[in-house]
Amino acid sequence: MTVRSLSPDILSVLEDAVGPSGLTADTAGMAKYLGDWAGDYRGSALAVLRPASVAEVQVLMRLCSELGLGVIPQGGNTGLVSGAIDGTTTGGVVVSLERLNAIRRIDRANFTLQADAGCVLQTIKEASEAEDCLFPLALGAQGSCQIGGNAATNAGGVNVLRYGMARDLILGLEVVLADGELWNGFSGLRKNNSGYDLKQLFIGSEGTLGIITGVEVKLFPKPARVETAYLGLISFEAAIGLFNRARRACSDLISAFEIIGSECIDLARLVDPGMTAPVAAPVHALIELSSGPTIDLNGVLASFLTDALEGGLVADAVLATSNAQAKAFWAIREGLVEGQAKRGYHVRTDLSVRISDIPALVERARRFVATEHPGWIALAYGHAGDGNIHFNVLPPLDLADGEARARGEEITAGLYDIAVRLGGSISAEHGIGRSRAREFWAGLSPAHRRMAAALKTALDPKGVMNPGCLLPSTARGCRPSRSFPRSSASAAMWCARRLPS
Ligand code: FAD
Ligand code: LAC
Ligand code: ZN
Repeated sequence: MTVRSLSPDILSVLEDAVGPSGLTADTAGMAKYLGDWAGDYRGSALAVLRPASVAEVQVLMRLCSELGLGVIPQGGNTGLVSGAIDGTTTGGVVVSLERLNAIRRIDRANFTLQADAGCVLQTIKEASEAEDCLFPLALGAQGSCQIGGNAATNAGGVNVLRYGMARDLILGLEVVLADGELWNGFSGLRKNNSGYDLKQLFIGSEGTLGIITGVEVKLFPKPARVETAYLGLISFEAAIGLFNRARRACSDLISAFEIIGSECIDLARLVDPGMTAPVAAPVHALIELSSGPTIDLNGVLASFLTDALEGGLVADAVLATSNAQAKAFWAIREGLVEGQAKRGYHVRTDLSVRISDIPALVERARRFVATEHPGWIALAYGHAGDGNIHFNVLPPLDLADGEARARGEEITAGLYDIAVRLGGSISAEHGIGRSRAREFWAGLSPAHRRMAAALKTALDPKGVMNPGCLLPSTARGCRPSRSFPRSSASAAMWCARRLPS
């Protein structure tokens, strides 16, 4: 595939649209936009454009659409599936939302907040807290990811079991469509049953249908009380059993239930060698309860844990006695993710199954790695309360990088197969991006493919939006981006013919 370059004329038209500080086309200036957080993907682009207003995004989209130039929207670039990084570029430009980063409005009376898409999630969380409110989307990348990126990926995180995914937290979107037209989908309404809920099309669309420029989210009362405990369990089965009991005993007070195979602790130590887990057990779990001021939350959690210890449901439990101790518990959960990136290339998955199938998923996946890929280290952790396990596999340290990556593809395929056979999904929360596009498309039913192709064709007829992301790329035998047939039915058939079922 050849990478085109932009003629001086086109560069100058683009520069007119965003101003000199909004365009970068030199290698050094573009570098940080062309590599991902984990160091897994390296992309290329003809230019990086950084519009500073919604009007500038509109002008850019009009130009790119007329020029047939691929547009790769980019938020905080923390995505893990190569959605904002195009390593097989057909000549696209990255459009970074980082300069569109204001909080527009907080409406305390209605518990809503409106922000530019490029506003960093942490900034939104802090602004909400300053108004005694909570915006509950919480993920390790919250200091860098943007609310537009969260919407585009339908992000999950650690509080999904209480508050839902981004999809459940978003009330409205403002989107610049592929041809530059602006759609304002803000209403502030919690109930609005008038026709298609168009915002839901863009949530989770990973930049393939339009550029999100503004997001309106739901806020919640800031919990006055939060209690956190770190638990030790004998198995994943015991952990899921305990979660089930906790749901009944603590009801909707549970705001997080994370599970960590003890083998992950070594990875957290790569970030902080002094880090020690508060329990010694094969499986660890973090449980968090939160509430308003009138509930004796400490009493609820303490009595639940006492019963669980006495009944042998949990092997060990430490209830945090301070915020600092609770933070130290969470640092283990965050550190093990950072530690994996520090160690280098590894197989990273984001599987979901029914909550009750988690023990079977982990058991089958571990057996598969041990028997077919001895020497590789299996890690299992994740959002157990949502049935979402990150089953990651680390190569032996002495294996050459190229060999590890080739074997890694085989391991990934084996793990997807295990999840799918359990009726699960290959992407619980990270999305499809470019790295899972082929498997995603191949797993769809003909009806699903036809509807997906029809949506893409209707909203992005020229195929300029994030070519190769979500829908399979040219390199993989299907090219929905540039030559997607006009008729949706034929588009689906055309793609189906080119992919193995
Ligand atoms: P980017 O990475 O920049 O982009 C992601 C996708 O969205 C791309 O396809 C891009 O084209 C598109 N996009 C971005 N902005 C826009 C826009 N304004 N309009 C249209 N399309 C756009 N994810 C979870 O769900 N749960 C987790 O717990 C979690 N933990 C993480 C922990 C770490 C340490 C890291 C590095 C990542 C984690 N992630 C997690 C993944 C990632 O943070 C999320 O997917 C996040 O929502 C991506 O936001 P972003 O702004 O960085 O988007
Ligand atoms: C997590 C990210 C990787 O759960 O999704 O830590
Ligand atoms: Zn996760």
